[in-house]
Amino acid sequence: MSRIAYVNGQYVPHGAGTVHIEDRGYQFSDGVYEVFAVHNGALVGEKGHMDRLGHSLKELRIDWPMQQAAMMVVVLEIVRRNYVHNGFVYLQITRGVARRDHPFPECSKSALVVTARKMAPLDKEALSKGVGVIFVPDLRWKRRDIKSISLLPNVLGKQQAREQGAFEAWQVDEDGYVTEGTSSNAWIVTKDGELTTRNTSQSILNGITRLAVIEAATEAGLTFSERPFMPEEALAAREAFITSSTSHVKAVTEINGKSVGNGHVGELTSRLLDLYVAYIEESGGPLKTDTWN
Ligand code: PDD
Repeated sequence: MSRIAYVNGQYVPHGAGTVHIEDRGYQFSDGVYEVFAVHNGALVGEKGHMDRLGHSLKELRIDWPMQQAAMMVVVLEIVRRNYVHNGFVYLQITRGVARRDHPFPECSKSALVVTARKMAPLDKEALSKGVGVIFVPDLRWKRRDIKSISLLPNVLGKQQAREQGAFEAWQVDEDGYVTEGTSSNAWIVTKDGELTTRNTSQSILNGITRLAVIEAATEAGLTFSERPFMPEEALAAREAFITSSTSHVKAVTEINGKSVGNGHVGELTSRLLDLYVAYIEESGGPLKTDTWN
């Protein structure tokens, strides 16, 4: 069955979807994106994703290509036409097509592409197997709260991780603190048992999964701390995990080749995975989605 993409007003076979050679996304990375998880036929955290998309667009002064409600119709239609019961939707908006010149074009229409892909259903067993992470320097710009399509440092970091046999790279900023993964947020349970993830600012992307985990943990009465932590603290941690729309809550059992805690998936990590799944199944995703930096 062929995949269907939405490209600037039309539903087309995935392989036939094309954009103009002078699309500013192609030439300048002048665009933003979102990745929505689809879990058992339902979108996860769509309000959060749409709010964060609004933040990214506003900060870059890119116009919405259509009204939000209409865009949601396109997203759901792409899920339906691709028969995605479990998987994700990729949505990208660029500043549109214009003769190559750095300043914003006087008139261009934002370009919209939406695709979807099936993935294996969320599998608690597989997620709790545990993966490895490495540290890499954070080479990105200073507005990581914006979900920009400019992802070269993320690509290089992830590639380095894969070449070193790890799943993800945790990026370390100029002050020596972990910011986040290349496509996920970073969490640890410190040696004293404190659940910790970096506070939001312009230094990291405020993940929708991160927000859902925070809400689920708060509802369950768990305490957590939002603050920066250093690689040394992560190396001494009892537990570690990553969160993202495609990795959900994934245990990290090795950091820089060294076992985290006893090398097995932590108790709190497994509990948070259960809480997260129950939370998204009940509420559809995070409810407080108004602070992006
Ligand atoms: N990435 N941090 C970064 C740098 C990310 O790229 C992502 C998501 C996250 C987690 O955000 P969320 O929980 O909203 O998915 C954090 C997506 C999945 C991607 O680029 O494919």
